[in-house]
Amino acid sequence: MQKSIGIKKANVAVFISGTGSNFKNLIQHSLKKNSKYKISLVISNKSKAKGLIYAKKYKIHKKVINYKNIRNAEKIIIDLLKRKKIKLICLAGFMKILSANFIKKFKGKIINIHPSLLPKYKGLNTHQKVIKNREKFSGCTVHFVNSKLDSGKIILQKKIKILKGDTSEKVAKRVLKEEHLLYPKALEKILINL
Ligand code: GRF
Repeated sequence: MQKSIGIKKANVAVFISGTGSNFKNLIQHSLKKNSKYKISLVISNKSKAKGLIYAKKYKIHKKVINYKNIRNAEKIIIDLLKRKKIKLICLAGFMKILSANFIKKFKGKIINIHPSLLPKYKGLNTHQKVIKNREKFSGCTVHFVNSKLDSGKIILQKKIKILKGDTSEKVAKRVLKEEHLLYPKALEKILINL
């Protein structure tokens, strides 16, 4: 926990691999007056992840992790999480699978955002599948991470309507907008109980 202007804020780490729009959005939300958290660390498995520019912009400690050896990679991450007194891990487009050991160690303290209405469409290419299957709705889900892919307990979900003439790109854009509203809400919700 960290003290800032009289409010104790929980230290949060964000794990990314790409664009980092959710990372940026979580940072911006954390800067709001009543936010209960502070982004203290960003981890990326890719040195060229676009989202890392926000670490520089907002002066957030960043660490690029070489994932050639997952055991070593996770050891480095665990040390850093301890050092930074991280209370919660937010996965935001992180494309590596965490080991069962790691997940066990941080049980109830890792959350993820997924671009579908889970339990439907786990894994990749969710929007393409939604269009192909002529779904009437799609959306996004924030959930706890357990050892099965995209299967942990759901924290919050937002539904959107699939419109006539929708493409997977159009749906992706609208869902991402909703992700940016949903993720900070889910984060604040679970921080109350941590
Ligand atoms: C989002 O669609 C998220 O749901 C998924 O990966 C994407 C990450 O986007 N897990 P960004 O890097 O936050 O822009």
